[in-house]
Amino acid sequence: MNRIVQKEWLTPEIVRLRVEAPRIAKRWKAGQFVIIRPTKEGERIPLTIVEGSQNDGTITLVVQVVGKTTAVTANLKAGEFLEDLLGPLGEPATVKLFGTVLCVGGGVGVAEVLPVARALQSAGNRVIALCGARSGGKMILDAELQEAADELLWATDDGSSGFHGNVAELMRFWKWDRSAHVDAVFSIGPIPMMKAVAVLTRVWEVQCFASLNPIMVDGTGMCGGCRVSVGGKVRFACVEGPEFDAHQVDFDELAIRNRAYFEQEKMVAERHECMIGLGR
Ligand code: FAD
Ligand code: FES
Ligand code: MG
Repeated sequence: MNRIVQKEWLTPEIVRLRVEAPRIAKRWKAGQFVIIRPTKEGERIPLTIVEGSQNDGTITLVVQVVGKTTAVTANLKAGEFLEDLLGPLGEPATVKLFGTVLCVGGGVGVAEVLPVARALQSAGNRVIALCGARSGGKMILDAELQEAADELLWATDDGSSGFHGNVAELMRFWKWDRSAHVDAVFSIGPIPMMKAVAVLTRVWEVQCFASLNPIMVDGTGMCGGCRVSVGGKVRFACVEGPEFDAHQVDFDELAIRNRAYFEQEKMVAERHECMIGLGR
């Protein structure tokens, strides 16, 4: 178990891994995640389950290299094993018939949007995927999203492909251009993006779900690492989320908490870079 059966770089920073995990492939639902430990010495990190196939007993993970553990994970080769893999964890996304649903993703959050878009489309919704990337070369899973959504539009920060701007601006443009009614919005991506989507949907008076990405350690509600404030109450994202009512989330607190170990993370990543090539 946990063998990487396929590995593919989607961009120079983002890798797709297909991993043997038959029991997770059988039980997972859109919106859930796993906690992995890539090597014996490594720390644990959460990753969304992007796909799961009961036929071959594999799950698909999409990993963006941002620091040491994601770099170590992305450097594993097909045929090698993840040391630990725990899941499926968290509550599934709210999948039901809403009507017209916007699925909004940014960066690697686009990969996390894919299973939610597929599940919402299967539930009978008209799904519009609005995705953001820094530039055209960083767009991922375009073909898969074309199939999962009734309409797919991209926004790029530099305007090299699709709409020139961020995804919140694309949402505003799409709604104005189509004169469309929206019944629900799902947003997954960087914290400033999810905050902007929450602000806009509050003005629209449309319900909005955000899949939060706090620092997680055990993923089972024991350590308190993933504490978030929702509607003034403390919630543990690993067992009560990761999806919450975006209008109730304290995104500023989440942003501060996610940078709590920034200095240590920077040091560890730099030390790791120095060790590459030394066989360590
Ligand atoms: P570090 O240099 O250690 O950290 C970089 C930044 O990542 C930190 O500043 C912090 O904001 C965040 N981070 C660090 N450690 C953790 C941790 N243990 N848990 C969560 N965030 C952390 N990333 C993907 O590329 N693909 C996914 O599908 C994906 N799904 C996620 C699902 C959930 C429910 C959550 C909470 C996060 C998800 N992430 C995903 C984010 C991913 O877990 C972090 O990028 C990763 O842990 C960073 O580890 P690092 O050691 O490489 O980077
Ligand atoms: Fe430990 Fe959620 S990760 S309580
Ligand atoms: Mg780390």
